[in-house]
Amino acid sequence: MSTAPISREDAAAGFRGAFGGAPDLVARAPGRVNLIGEHTDYNDGLVLPAAVSLATFAAGRRLPAPVLRLASREFPGVVEVPLAARRPRGDWTDYVTGTARAMAARGLAVAGAELWFASEIPPGAGLSSSAALEIAAGLGLLRLAGDARPLPALSWDLILAGQAGEREWVGANCGFMDQASAVLARAGAALLLDCRSRETEYIPLPAEAVLAVCHTGVRHELATSAYNQRRRECEAAVAGLAAHLPGLRSLRDVNPEMLERYGGEIDPVVARRARHVVTENARVPAACAALRTGDWPRLRAVFAASHASLRDDYEVSCPELDAMVEAAAAAPGFLAGRMTGGGFGGCTVNLVAADLAPAFAAAVTADYQARMHRRARVFLLATAGSATIEP
Ligand code: GLA
Repeated sequence: MSTAPISREDAAAGFRGAFGGAPDLVARAPGRVNLIGEHTDYNDGLVLPAAVSLATFAAGRRLPAPVLRLASREFPGVVEVPLAARRPRGDWTDYVTGTARAMAARGLAVAGAELWFASEIPPGAGLSSSAALEIAAGLGLLRLAGDARPLPALSWDLILAGQAGEREWVGANCGFMDQASAVLARAGAALLLDCRSRETEYIPLPAEAVLAVCHTGVRHELATSAYNQRRRECEAAVAGLAAHLPGLRSLRDVNPEMLERYGGEIDPVVARRARHVVTENARVPAACAALRTGDWPRLRAVFAASHASLRDDYEVSCPELDAMVEAAAAAPGFLAGRMTGGGFGGCTVNLVAADLAPAFAAAVTADYQARMHRRARVFLLATAGSATIEP
């Protein structure tokens, strides 16, 4: 796995090596960082992801038969899966087949195809390599099947098909933030998305800051099962609170006063999970306001509170993420930082003064090594636009 840039020509050459001949198209979908609004998407809440300049590429060619022939730079062999496959295979191809099935179920055009994939996004880093794979595959398959509608006309079908593919075929009960970021992102901005109304707003990122994504190098095996468990705990919180708040549908409808009043009536662990979600929803607009005015002390405090809440109330951080956050806070150029994505390993996201970014990266790497005896990888990333068919 390498994060070295992949060009359209590289993707075409990879396709030729796997299948012979030229692809009809190359689709590209970006990974993301989430600036804030963590574990809120599946609670109808607010999120603020930004697509980054690491992407997954899918080079594709239409086939007359209703099968997918799938190959990847990252995995050996060519896997052939009927479009009407009845069960997942338990490997990387499930993200693609799952998305294709979910697209068909939503009435989107899907045809047989040969697809070759390559990704710049480190897997298991919390940078949404899965969603990028789903959306690159989904967009490529749509175009190969002749659906030429502009992306805005099919955004939500594509987003929800990617999410459904992952939930139904891979078994990760994810929200739709990652897929939405890949489809709706704009370069230079973060995407403020209301996961209930699906309203969007673009929050420009101040030019004096860059994104520094610090990879802990760990991925906890329990990530998927613990993620699914958090979802169930949120559902339990809604059920428990609804006894006192009739008509309650999701944690989005709960404010801190309600939690103060009724939190003692429900299971204490479940109440802490709810407190994270409720307070995190309030932190998203606070972070947007700080970003709009370039109020770095305010943003720093909001990000720090988010990290503490994820660590203490939601319990999805780990010692490596905590050490990385502490190392970043002491490094030159640091403006604000926290863990990003689902947790249990992966990356932290930091906003760093552009002119000090190399010094920041060097200091964090040395400090993390001293604290955890592990090598950190620091990616200085630009924001990116939405998924595209490469010209
Ligand atoms: C993963 C999921 C998202 C979201 C985040 C946590 O990335 O795929 O839907 O829930 O975790 O914010």
